[in-house]
Amino acid sequence: MSAVLMDGKLLASKVREEVKTAVAAMVAAGQAPPGLATVLIGDDPASEIYVRNKRRMCVEAGMQDHHQHLPGNVSHQEAIDLVDALAVNPLISGILVQLPVPGTIVAEELLSRIPAAKDVDGLTVANAGLLAQGLPGHRPCTPAGIVRLLDEYAVALEGATAVVVGRSRLVGKPMAQLLLERNATVTIAHSRTRNLTEVCRNADILIAAAGVPGVITGDAIRPGATVIDVGIHRDGNRLRGDVDFAAASKIAARITPVPGGVGPMTIAMLLANTLKAAQDRQEN
Ligand code: GUN
Repeated sequence: MSAVLMDGKLLASKVREEVKTAVAAMVAAGQAPPGLATVLIGDDPASEIYVRNKRRMCVEAGMQDHHQHLPGNVSHQEAIDLVDALAVNPLISGILVQLPVPGTIVAEELLSRIPAAKDVDGLTVANAGLLAQGLPGHRPCTPAGIVRLLDEYAVALEGATAVVVGRSRLVGKPMAQLLLERNATVTIAHSRTRNLTEVCRNADILIAAAGVPGVITGDAIRPGATVIDVGIHRDGNRLRGDVDFAAASKIAARITPVPGGVGPMTIAMLLANTLKAAQDRQEN
């Protein structure tokens, strides 16, 4: 392997420490600590693990955990009522509805009840619109964490050719917009893209968020590229990403491992957004 490993675990712990210090300062100044309401509907095992980790790190940062768990057969109206109550609760700085939600619930309608100021996931139409227009707002956590990681490793974004594979609301689309905001030349590739390998091979910065294990093979990597792997898939008793790590790490200049790359940054940025939401509220 010749590529430098981009250590998201290390950077995430640094970001969480910064958040923890700022939370302690708020409390020392007599303000209420930030409160995060994670909303989990149903019993999806992967979502349960994600939410448990978010809650644990929220508490470790000195924030208040206002977790809400609704059964999978809850009515749409009950779920709406819960989010509406969280929206007006002054103890709650941020609300995160874990996706996916069961089929009986319309995710868009639930998300639309979250006030933009409490949308620490950056998923509401309001925050997506602010991002699209380059205006301040909460940015989605995974792409924001990737930009932070790229900056930590001094990856030049201005003028760079960036290819984002994937166009999801959570990662692909906002990722492309954040890279554009930093003056990269951005291509969004997806499942219908022709010649995906060729498109990827142009990339100085390749963001793999396709959700398909190993879809990015070694021949899709430009020598010297920076490769960010957003995928996380269980493969027997190990985890793997969207990138063929063994092949790509011989060609790239920098690469994120799976696990320990992008994943920890998502939670760190969630905490940073929740802190910002609480600070903004104090100021207003
Ligand atoms: N499901 C998988 N990742 C995420 C995330 O970052 N936020 C939410 N709300 N749901 C998710």
